Amino acid sequence: MKIVVTGKGGAGKTTISGALARLLARGGHRVVALDCDPSPGLGISLGLGPEATEAAPAVLNSLVALGHTHNDPDPDPEDLLTRFGVDGPDGVRLLVGGKVEQLAGACVCCGSHSTTRKLFSNLPHEGRVVLADLEAGLNDLIWASPKADDIVIALAEPSAKGFEIARRACELAETMGVGQRIVVANRANGADVETLSELTGLAAVAVPDDPAVAQADREGLAPIDVDPQSPALLAIASLAEQLGLVPALAAAQPERRG
Ligand SMILES: Nc1ncnc2c1ncn2[C@@H]1O[C@H](COP(=O)(O)OP(=O)(O)OP(=O)(O)O)[C@@H](O)[C@H]1O
Ligand SMILES: [Mg+2]
Repeated sequence: MKIVVTGKGGAGKTTISGALARLLARGGHRVVALDCDPSPGLGISLGLGPEATEAAPAVLNSLVALGHTHNDPDPDPEDLLTRFGVDGPDGVRLLVGGKVEQLAGACVCCGSHSTTRKLFSNLPHEGRVVLADLEAGLNDLIWASPKADDIVIALAEPSAKGFEIARRACELAETMGVGQRIVVANRANGADVETLSELTGLAAVAVPDDPAVAQADREGLAPIDVDPQSPALLAIASLAEQLGLVPALAAAQPERRG
């Protein structure tokens, strides 16, 4: 199963991706969390902490440092996951695509680095969930090129601009033939949910504005490690159930592994 999380800048993509990845892992899935943002921060929302997140190698930067150029054959994505992936809480494996950290050398906007931009579409998903937290806007959605069996989650914070980008994300996903398109109104009230549902023609899922989430981010923690029963976490847990990936009640329970 593959899931992409897309939407306008600041809509809550990383926060919700991190929580969803942890919940799916607690529900028994092997989860690969792909950080597709060149300013990566998914590790923090997964609960690795700021230092380990900063230390996580970025695929593109690592390949460039090893002398790889776009003239070389595309590396095997499974091999990239083994070499550059980092294990996080609940067994979620984090893979960071690329990181902007110098003036030249590893610009992930460049099509020549499509290796990393295509990680989502190239990584085999058998026996696991691949969940991609995309860069803001819709460009990465096209690069990720989700297919019929994949899930696209379009997030919007309550603003006309955010709603419009979510609407276009759903439209693009439909054009790509994606079967399951979910629209989420984050930090939204009932009227926002109605507006987004009307605009997209899909029943929007609501995730409430939650001080526990904001507090977790302030402290560099994963919301699930601060309060797994907070209103936003419960809404994300019911989203996981709605996706058919986690049985009711399994979500939000702490890991129990021998
Ligand atoms: N439901 C929520 N309740 C309270 N705060 C939230 C909620 N969702 C997200 N936030 C806060 O909103 C901010 C933006 O969230 P996040 O970084 O997840 O957005 P993003 O879409 O990934 O942003 P970017 O486009 O920069 O990648 C963060 O400070 C986060 O803590
Ligand atoms: Mg983000």
